[in-house]
Amino acid sequence: MIELINLEKTYPSGNGKVVALSDVNLTISDGDVFGIIGLSGAGKSTLVRCINFLEQPQSGKVIVDGVDLSSVSQKELRKIRRNIGMIFQSFNLLEQRTVEKNVLFPLELAKIPKEKAQKRVDELLEIVGLSDKKKAYPSQLSGGQKQRVAIARALATYPKYLLCDEATSALDPNTTSSILSLLKKINSELGVTIIVITHEMKVIESVCSKVAVIDNSKIAEVGDVSEVFSNPKSEIAKELVIPDLIRSIKNQNGYKFRLVFNGESSNTPTISALALEKGISANIIYADTKLIDGKIYGHLVFTLSGGREQFEETKKFLEEKGVKYFAEAE
Ligand SMILES: Nc1ncnc2c1ncn2[C@@H]1O[C@H](COP(=O)(O)OP(=O)(O)OP(=O)(O)O)[C@@H](O)[C@H]1O
Ligand SMILES: [Mg+2]
Repeated sequence: MIELINLEKTYPSGNGKVVALSDVNLTISDGDVFGIIGLSGAGKSTLVRCINFLEQPQSGKVIVDGVDLSSVSQKELRKIRRNIGMIFQSFNLLEQRTVEKNVLFPLELAKIPKEKAQKRVDELLEIVGLSDKKKAYPSQLSGGQKQRVAIARALATYPKYLLCDEATSALDPNTTSSILSLLKKINSELGVTIIVITHEMKVIESVCSKVAVIDNSKIAEVGDVSEVFSNPKSEIAKELVIPDLIRSIKNQNGYKFRLVFNGESSNTPTISALALEKGISANIIYADTKLIDGKIYGHLVFTLSGGREQFEETKKFLEEKGVKYFAEAE
């Protein structure tokens, strides 16, 4: 388990300072695929670099499996770091080394005997599906293949944790999904706890079970992905979750509803029931539902052509049906 307690991190900047993390508290449990999402400059990379003490917070604690990282020697810290693999947007491969020599590198540092190390390299390349690229150099690989090498290298010393800082941001959508599937497999089959830093909701949606939303150095919201997605509470989460399109929708008479499907009500034909039971016809202007963790979540936005009375009646109807909604009269 990783615990971040009251983390504060500032960087000097010109005459003043930049606050990168402020009062950050998070608990990442073993087995989680934990997402951290936020806009550029929110503090995501700083946060993830604090987890392995590549950055030291000015105050607060980073506790990994019960060990306070500020209390250990450099030697112990190196040992703990072997238990925390990391991958980056830019892959950070050693260009002069072949694929297999890249993966071998951390094993050399850990002074693993040659034969055993080679066996581990072969095993890792098999896991990431690159056994046939052993002798290739990074410059001969695609972005997705490079990230696979980086993943193999990060897993070399059997880490319990894998930190991924925008690991798919440089990749096209198809390659992104293949890397995300690989991360899922690493989590479920090897039991590695994964921390995914991203600015893309899609990434969180497809791999994470938990998510923390970071805004301007602070944690704005944290919870199960399904909950945060279906019912975002903080302004920043709403902005990230609700597509631009929905926010920009205006309608002439000003009565707008957004229904939130939370895994239970999505199969209920709410709109047709509204028409049949109340004689109110909704103009659907946006619908987007998706499967997360086997349940249906999403949004449906509609406007009404009637006036205030119809607006109030619709609200009452939705409440009776137990549908989560946001109503807006502009
Ligand atoms: N080494 C540094 N020196 C000074 N300021 C820094 C340093 N690293 C980060 N910062 C500042 O700290 C804040 C948080 O940066 P951080 O890199 O953690 O954001 P981020 O969420 O990872 O952004 P991005 O999505 O662009 O990668 C920013 O204002 C950034 O300019
Ligand atoms: Mg970053």
